[in-house]
Amino acid sequence: MADNFFITTAIDYTNGAPHIGHAYEKVLADVIARYHRLKGESVFYLTGVDQHGQKVQQSAEKQGIEPQKFVDGLTEKFVALWDKLDVRYERWAATTDASHKQCVRAILQRLWDEKDATGQSRWLYKTKQGGWYSVRQEQFLTDKERGEDGEFGPEWGEVEFREEENYYFRLTEHRDWLLVLLESRPELVTPDFRRGELRNAVEKLSGDLCISRPKSRLAWGIELPFDPEFVTFVWFDALVNYISFAPGYDPAPGADLSEFNAWWPALHVIGKDILIPAHGVYWPIMLKALGFSDADIPILLVHGWWNIGGTKMSKTLGNVVDPDALADKYGAEALRYYLMSDITTGRDADFSDDRLITRFNSDLAKNLGNLLNRSLNMAHKYRGGVLKKTTAPELLLTTRDALNFETVVELYRSQFDGCAVNLALETALLHATACNQFIDLQKPWTVAKHPDLADRLDAILYQLAESLRFIAILLSPIVPKAARGIFDQLGVTGEFGLGDAKWGALPDGHRVGTPVPLFPQIERPEGE
Ligand code: MSP
Repeated sequence: MADNFFITTAIDYTNGAPHIGHAYEKVLADVIARYHRLKGESVFYLTGVDQHGQKVQQSAEKQGIEPQKFVDGLTEKFVALWDKLDVRYERWAATTDASHKQCVRAILQRLWDEKDATGQSRWLYKTKQGGWYSVRQEQFLTDKERGEDGEFGPEWGEVEFREEENYYFRLTEHRDWLLVLLESRPELVTPDFRRGELRNAVEKLSGDLCISRPKSRLAWGIELPFDPEFVTFVWFDALVNYISFAPGYDPAPGADLSEFNAWWPALHVIGKDILIPAHGVYWPIMLKALGFSDADIPILLVHGWWNIGGTKMSKTLGNVVDPDALADKYGAEALRYYLMSDITTGRDADFSDDRLITRFNSDLAKNLGNLLNRSLNMAHKYRGGVLKKTTAPELLLTTRDALNFETVVELYRSQFDGCAVNLALETALLHATACNQFIDLQKPWTVAKHPDLADRLDAILYQLAESLRFIAILLSPIVPKAARGIFDQLGVTGEFGLGDAKWGALPDGHRVGTPVPLFPQIERPEGE
């Protein structure tokens, strides 16, 4: 039976249009999902939108429309963009779905009903707490909101001390459990330095999680099943999407979870800003409360952020990059390629159109595009497009590692399995660079002048066609349409997997197609 692979992304807030950060994350998970499909695994990719919360309620009020109508409009934009960017997912998670709301309520009820010896819920309790409240923003403020002078800035308007009753989820008593878990399963957080950050945060953990908001303050949320005066705090609602939309999950105690267990645990792809505390602290403890074992706590791949000139993108600064416009301008594949190649997975990077154009022109148009063009042109010029199969790549084995299929694919696998997507991509393109150097060294145009070297010329041409087929397979998770384009030009049809990335699949007498420029250079705007 094929292995199952379950991958998720963060669900995006629908209080604004999708931006480049959202696009990066969805494409990153899509690329990893496609790699696993290429390996022959069954893949379940879950992504979607986070539609509840204060910001949505406020934005909808400003526009004078119902929150549901407001989020529906924005949700459409996300769906259309993922379609445009070729993000292929198995299921769409929208937190206003009836099934999700039902699951969240069932989970809360379950936690509420699980009593300790004194008859109190083991997981939840109700208590009154006081804090500073911004009347204008309708929210409680923490020390994080204080300015350098220790005061709350004018953006908060009038700030008053208020007391409020709410429901809390016990976190602190699970701190030691979480610390031991992080030690015993180091693979839980990638990259490593983020695990260190999480461990430090868990060591300092104090206080429990407020999981409710009084309806008088926030109406746009999921009502608590045991107290209709309250709605669920947005994180307790949003995190649950990973199981409420998973295949076969049922929150009832003792339910049959065999289908769910065939997929779980998931790989969660998230940004660095939502590791602590949401995914690194709340979520594992929530799962523990639901009876998940230590081995079933999911793995987190934490990616960095795209900045602009070293600073954060923000609506206030007006420097938010619109992925939809970029895809229209440069094409979806160019954008996918840039987003995967110009950032070290896990680290931050700077976004610029200039870098996008440079990477596309040098790596795809020049390196790979030229290789495709020269190889097919020579096959036509010297052999009428018909290849002669050579049994062994002797010419190549004597040259560099970057030309050896086995070495390349082994490295590519280990990089992809470690989620180092940019490196795997680089490995595939290094093979193209090596092929271009191979052409320059072998000088097929000279070889063609010597009839006694006919075998050699055949071997060169076969090698190049095989290499192109090989590169197309390796690049297919990142630029699926371009990979298909290379296959078409090579005259190869049908589906392929990573197992096909080995020497000798093109049969003797295979006829290659006509070369058409696949990656036309992107012209820079005048004056740049
Ligand atoms: N709704 C929550 C997540 C709930 S998951 C159960 C949320 N939404 S968000 O819209 O603010 O962010 C969605 C994802 O986009 C997060 O993983 C976040 O890190 C990522 N990004 C937001 N801005 C980003 C960049 N500038 N660069 C890269 N990714 C960024 O958080």
